[in-house]
Amino acid sequence: MPGMTRPLTLLGIETSCDETAAAVIRLVPEGTVEILSEKVHTQLEEHAPYLGVVPEIAARAHAELADQTIAAAIQETGISYADLDAIAATSGPGLIGGVLVGMMTGKAIAQAAGKPFLAVNHLEGHALSPRLTHDCPFPYLLLLVSGGHCQFLEVRGLGDYRRLGSTIDDAAGEAFDKTAKLLGLGFPGGPAVERIGANGNPTAIDFPRPLLNRPGLDMSFAGLKTAVARAAEAEDLTESRIADICASFQAAIVDVLSEKARRALEAFNPANGTGKRFVVAGGVASNQAIRAGLETAAKESGAVLIAPPMRHCTDNAAMIALAGAERLAGGLEHPEGDLGAGARPRWPLDEAAAKSDPSYTTGRRGAKA
Ligand code: KG4
Ligand code: ZN
Repeated sequence: MPGMTRPLTLLGIETSCDETAAAVIRLVPEGTVEILSEKVHTQLEEHAPYLGVVPEIAARAHAELADQTIAAAIQETGISYADLDAIAATSGPGLIGGVLVGMMTGKAIAQAAGKPFLAVNHLEGHALSPRLTHDCPFPYLLLLVSGGHCQFLEVRGLGDYRRLGSTIDDAAGEAFDKTAKLLGLGFPGGPAVERIGANGNPTAIDFPRPLLNRPGLDMSFAGLKTAVARAAEAEDLTESRIADICASFQAAIVDVLSEKARRALEAFNPANGTGKRFVVAGGVASNQAIRAGLETAAKESGAVLIAPPMRHCTDNAAMIALAGAERLAGGLEHPEGDLGAGARPRWPLDEAAAKSDPSYTTGRRGAKA
């Protein structure tokens, strides 16, 4: 890493949704990363009865789990807090109660240990996540597709992100979860819809492909929910009808993501001639049909598809620690540290693009991703 003279060891904390996670990583001057420990507690059981993430339950679970998760991550490394160079915690965007828990815990550790605290943008963590395990130099194209996010980003360099397009309403994973809820398939919905859809006919129902025929890279998935609800209204909601709905719904998402990926890859032309890298991250990336569609789009555009291991595609703390370490190494940290930083429910990576977009607001309305 340019300007980096010694390894940096960081504790990362992630609490922005329903994963309580802590990790210790070491970034070495050559740019490679050693992951010294990774601990994740997924709150699936806590939220499953409600078929979705309940913010208050998440916040309470984070408060109960953060200390022990962090202690376990530190203990496994055999190092002490004094050996850390800094502490990084997700400070947004996300569910505010959980973000506050992680941030306050991180700040307290930083102050007690006399170490710098870095307030990390969760989306920057995702954007840098392939660099935990892959040789993935800037620039690259990123599709972040999860329960909370759905956007194409050009990752030009550290702190330099250009949003090429995003959902204007629900994230793709949210659409999977809502479909599963409507069909009584439980939570999280994605894996259930994929499993049951494997027995269905993807052309049985002609679901809409929202915004597919409009130019640009914005996406919309909220309308699909209404279409699924209508398809599920039939009196004879048999097992095979449910399988057909799942398969047809998934086919609609595959079409939209593949076509938008193709367009994004067309628009992404790295100047340095090092080739096109296309990174896909987020829980939805584990869907085989979606993965295959993106693989084809990449191949057609002469790009290489990079998919980080699943544990780094979904929410994790190693990516938060890495974002903090890269900021420290690149001299991008706030000169007075981030102890005064507040939690941000919305925090777009590309602020300029977000501000020019009418669907972006600071309140409850507007695209979550
Ligand atoms: O990245 P993630 O673990 O958490 C965040 O949302 O940040 O992603 C979870 C989302 C859920 O909406 C889940 O239904 C979806 O990813 N998902 C899938 C699959 N596995 C998880 N969606 C489609 N197919 C899958 N196999
Ligand atoms: Zn995330």
